[in-house]
Amino acid sequence: MKREQWGSRSGFILSAVGSAIGLGNIWRFPYMAYDNGGGAFLIPYFFALLTAGIPILILEFGIGHKMRGSAPLTFARLNKKWEWLGWWQLSISFVISIYYVVIIGWAFNYIWFSLSQSWGTHTIAFFTENFLGLTGSPFDFDGIRMPIVFTVLIVWSINFIVLYSGVKKGIELSNKIFMPILIIILLILMIRSITLPGAAQGLELLFKPDFSRIFDAGVWVAAYGQIFFSLSIAFGIMICYSSYLPEKSDIVNNAFITGFLNCGFSLLSGITVFGIIGFMMHQSGGELPAKLSGVFLAFATLPEAINQLPFMQTFVGILFFVSIVCAGMSSEISISETVVSGIMDKFNLSRKKVVTGYCLTAGLLSLIFTTGSGLLILDIVDHFINNFNIVFAGLIEVILLGWFFNLNSVKDHIHPISDFNVGAWWNFCIKILTPIVLGITAVQNFIGDIQTPYGDYSFASLAGLGWGVWISAIVLSLILSLIKWKIPITIKY
Ligand code: ALA
Repeated sequence: MKREQWGSRSGFILSAVGSAIGLGNIWRFPYMAYDNGGGAFLIPYFFALLTAGIPILILEFGIGHKMRGSAPLTFARLNKKWEWLGWWQLSISFVISIYYVVIIGWAFNYIWFSLSQSWGTHTIAFFTENFLGLTGSPFDFDGIRMPIVFTVLIVWSINFIVLYSGVKKGIELSNKIFMPILIIILLILMIRSITLPGAAQGLELLFKPDFSRIFDAGVWVAAYGQIFFSLSIAFGIMICYSSYLPEKSDIVNNAFITGFLNCGFSLLSGITVFGIIGFMMHQSGGELPAKLSGVFLAFATLPEAINQLPFMQTFVGILFFVSIVCAGMSSEISISETVVSGIMDKFNLSRKKVVTGYCLTAGLLSLIFTTGSGLLILDIVDHFINNFNIVFAGLIEVILLGWFFNLNSVKDHIHPISDFNVGAWWNFCIKILTPIVLGITAVQNFIGDIQTPYGDYSFASLAGLGWGVWISAIVLSLILSLIKWKIPITIKY
């Protein structure tokens, strides 16, 4: 089967940027920055972008393009013994795809609520009790919530149609729609936000540097984690997307453009969200909102801010939640495509069959996140995905490619097709710097979670939903890598 291709360079860049810009930018970045030293967070953040984010993007674009395969096929072509790493990255995407979809579903519900601000004045209670029907423990499901199931179904349907239509007519086209809408909406929201009374106070909160935090290892860990999640690296996506590039494609430039656009967008989101928070503080005489992190920032605090707007409440509410839907959808599509392309490659199956099977299976599994304990399960799974799976898979990727592979062969591949070359700094970042920082991060995360189990969850919940998912993903990847390929894995140039 001939590999599908993007229709244009802009189509690829929009899709890669669409994958990168997601929920991680709109609500995760603002509170990560706020929690980790405000303006001082930007130093480790940009350091992580330049020393790990962009170098790994170049690496993933390079190997995906050179090996013309999904993550498992690319790693198998690099070295048959590394195929399992591709499957592991693919399973990370699989798990993310089943809970990410639910958050986009919530945003759909909130577009509806925005019409009449039906979240009322007690927005936290509305979100947790009325909307989610939140229970006290991850295994206390208390049934599924039909309004959420309904919107999750809408998200899966869009995902299905886009993936079914293929790379050019589905993924590329959808990003050409989602991305411009997203940018226009965010600009409107930003202008509205920074012209509100008190906005400056919010921006000060976000950007005022607390330099004492620079020496806090936790801040560096947070910055690297944010860059990995936000740039969609180490979970197979960028390898898969670059495998659809035509032969002559400027890899280095594409990586820089993707990295910088993504981080610029995060800054814009931060300014927008914190401008609005400054306005809330102004209204309440300087008091900080009760919930500034996690999903609460978007689904409880922002609705409260919208209530207080002097006019255009419905308009701002709709725009904000539509922006979450657009950003989330374009990432969800890329996360799902990573899984679809891996299975298509390995078993030589048609796109239509795999997309149908995948959407049905993942769709059913995502129902668990629509139950009364959905948020608690999501919280645990997301914590382990970020702190263990992505960090460890990223660490192994840079060690294998940096130390057990001829990195210069990637350079030899990308230099003739790129506008500018990468120098020795790139080898240094992949071989030395990133493995050291990720190594420290991995050990810290591991010891941290052993010493202080995450959240207030029971041992059974953390073992089943956190450690269990982590270990199962690795075991499953090893098993999948033992199955025989239905296509030749040697690549012909
Ligand atoms: N890169 C995507 C995000 O930031 C997954 O949400």
